[in-house]
Amino acid sequence: MKIQIINGPNLNLLGVREKSIYGDASFETYFATLQERYPQHTLSYFQSNKEGELIDKLHAVGFEFDGIVINAGAYTHTSIAIADAISAITTPVIEVHISNVYKREPFRHKSMLAASCRGVIAGFGMDSYRLAIENFVIA
Ligand code: DQA
Repeated sequence: MKIQIINGPNLNLLGVREKSIYGDASFETYFATLQERYPQHTLSYFQSNKEGELIDKLHAVGFEFDGIVINAGAYTHTSIAIADAISAITTPVIEVHISNVYKREPFRHKSMLAASCRGVIAGFGMDSYRLAIENFVIA
């Protein structure tokens, strides 16, 4: 299977940013462990701090890949444009969050994207990404 992971704004700072919430591993380090775990599948990783670049990536892979795992960061809570992009493509999308957004500020409880996604996984640390991949590979 071809699975694309897309990380949104500020997730380039994983391992540096608010470690008590997001942990101390960089995504690149974690991504390498995912690739080792799923050698029979092609995992790709893209990160951008720009909303339009996230949309362009969804368009680029969203008619070809077998699954997309997206952590849109704070755009999760605001972006109708990313929600529309997810609805426009044919590849199923799973929304993930490292933190349990429901334990945090009320503005993080609302997702603009969730209704356009296959499902949502939140609160399992970096393992949220693996759980999403697991759904694609067993589905
Ligand atoms: C996050 C949660 C968002 O509310 C926040 O803006 C992020 C990261 C998470 O992975 O827990 O940037 O998506």
